[in-house]
Amino acid sequence: MKIPQLLLCFLLFICSSNYAIAKKKSHKHHPLLFLPVFKDEITQQYVAQIYQRTPLVPVNLTVDLGGRFLWMDCENDYISSSYKNVPCGSRPCKLSGSQGCYGSSCPVPPRPGCNNYTCSHIPYNPIKRSSTDGELAQDVVALWSITTTTNRNNVSKMILSSTSGVMFNCPGDFLLEKLANGVKGMAGLGIGYTGLPSQLARAFHLPRKFAICLSGNTKSNGVILFGERRSYYASNEVLTSYTPLLKNPVSTAGAYFPGEPSVEYFIGVEKILVNGKIVPIDNKLLAINKTNGVGGTKISTVVPYGTMESSIYKAFKYEFVKAIAKVPIAKPVTPFELCFNLSNSDTLKGLVIPQVSLVLLGEHNNSTTWDLPMNNFMASPTINDSSDLLCLGFLDGGENAETSIVLGGMQIEENLLEFDLVKKRMGFKSVYMSSDLVSCSNKFR
Ligand SMILES: *[C@@H]1O[C@H](CO)[C@@H](O)[C@H](O)[C@H]1NC(C)=O
Ligand SMILES: *[C@@H]1O[C@H](CO)[C@@H](O)[C@H](O)[C@H]1NC(C)=O
Ligand SMILES: *[C@@H]1O[C@H](CO)[C@@H](O)[C@H](O)[C@H]1NC(C)=O
Ligand SMILES: *[C@@H]1O[C@H](CO)[C@@H](O)[C@H](O)[C@H]1NC(C)=O
Ligand SMILES: *[C@@H]1O[C@H](CO)[C@@H](O)[C@H](O)[C@H]1NC(C)=O
Ligand SMILES: *[C@@H]1O[C@H](CO)[C@@H](O)[C@H](O)[C@H]1NC(C)=O
Ligand SMILES: *[C@@H]1O[C@H](CO)[C@@H](O)[C@H](O)[C@H]1NC(C)=O
Ligand SMILES: *[C@@H]1O[C@H](CO)[C@@H](O)[C@H](O)[C@H]1NC(C)=O
Repeated sequence: MKIPQLLLCFLLFICSSNYAIAKKKSHKHHPLLFLPVFKDEITQQYVAQIYQRTPLVPVNLTVDLGGRFLWMDCENDYISSSYKNVPCGSRPCKLSGSQGCYGSSCPVPPRPGCNNYTCSHIPYNPIKRSSTDGELAQDVVALWSITTTTNRNNVSKMILSSTSGVMFNCPGDFLLEKLANGVKGMAGLGIGYTGLPSQLARAFHLPRKFAICLSGNTKSNGVILFGERRSYYASNEVLTSYTPLLKNPVSTAGAYFPGEPSVEYFIGVEKILVNGKIVPIDNKLLAINKTNGVGGTKISTVVPYGTMESSIYKAFKYEFVKAIAKVPIAKPVTPFELCFNLSNSDTLKGLVIPQVSLVLLGEHNNSTTWDLPMNNFMASPTINDSSDLLCLGFLDGGENAETSIVLGGMQIEENLLEFDLVKKRMGFKSVYMSSDLVSCSNKFR
């Protein structure tokens, strides 16, 4: 049966009053929400600014791609008429996977962060490596939105609010330790029900999809986009390389409820290539052990440089040094472990950096190759005003590394990564190697 257009609009208005204003303007297009992301110079953390509460205030948050949820300090200066605690036993509490409840220990009057009979969950700061418990709550959140009208070139930008709450967690302010200056919490973009992508998808009626494009430059911003990316991008910027997102049935957070799965983004690395040569690796390390969640490869925004479990790192370093044989090795500069001395101009002339590639699980039981541009694995630290050093931007993750390979900030900067939580896959495209995406920052100015 065909529903008359007018009735459909009416139904939509009722069902989705939470963004009725935007809906009326352009009911053919989902809005695309975006968060500008800055790289903090001192901590190298990626900091996003979100709007929250009633009245709206800007809140800076460190981006944690594999975080369970949004969490922030509610003890200091949290003023909002739309703050609501999530009651124990409620549907959102159950769906959050919480197995905790605060009973009756909150003093009168109740305040954000302490309400009797409230669902509790476990926020984690992976930089401090510390977990605690905190009240689960919800409040209004607003983001910049881009709306393309029927005229493709007419892009309007405005702040769009959810009138339904977006869930977050309220631990004490001690959990902010080690976060960038001015930051009030972390924006968890994890896969699960409480992750920001799923929360925003519900609150703004978006597809459960998001894309990140992080800038390597502390002077210019990158971006996180929520919703259907193609409604904004030109059609020639279609992604063609995809790799499945793999399930890790055991949480990789610092503390978790029994049976809780990991909400981090795991992908399948099958091989590492240096100049096309396979680095010999114990294949067991590349797989996720379903009993204890150990092993595999994940993507993280909370480590500036990628890590490899010790035996993988040694083998990789060996092949890498062999391939770059002519360049003298320099004394390492913290945090790097392998640096090359480029001060000799003869060295520079003949310098060819080896090609590093990751062979990933592809779609349809086929492999796909991610060729890393040099900027995604070679760092040039500037020490004592001289910049004749080049260091490998992968670090030794240790013998007991929980996750065998971690791709960190350096590896994913200036890449467009699209995470599709419905199709359970990640699309990737290097901005360095692409003619149409000039850089993450100038693309989304
Ligand atoms: C929480 O419950 C306790 C015990 O019933 C009560 O003394 C206290 O006043 C309550 N706090 C709030 C904020 O209602
Ligand atoms: C874009 O759309 C807005 C409102 O929808 C209109 O006021 C404006 O003139 C349009 N701009 C162009 C360049 O078409
Ligand atoms: C939040 O981040 C923005 C962008 O980096 C910055 O301009 C602003 O000063 C920050 N606010 C606070 C309170 O740190
Ligand atoms: C996975 O971990 C369990 C528990 O630590 C261990 O007994 C088992 O041998 C591991 N499996 C593999 C394939 O390494
Ligand atoms: C690089 O090599 C030059 C000599 O060729 C030496 O003077 C300089 O100290 C070296 N730099 C480092 C950081 O090892
Ligand atoms: C994928 O390919 C490998 C060998 O290329 C084969 O052994 C395996 O059975 C295939 N898996 C599926 C699901 O088709
Ligand atoms: C598998 O990948 C190869 C090389 O990338 C390609 O030529 C082939 O068509 C792919 N096969 C399928 C079934 O996608
Ligand atoms: C940088 O300069 C300081 C003091 O001048 C010196 O102690 C240090 O060794 C230098 N570092 C390098 C890598 O040359």
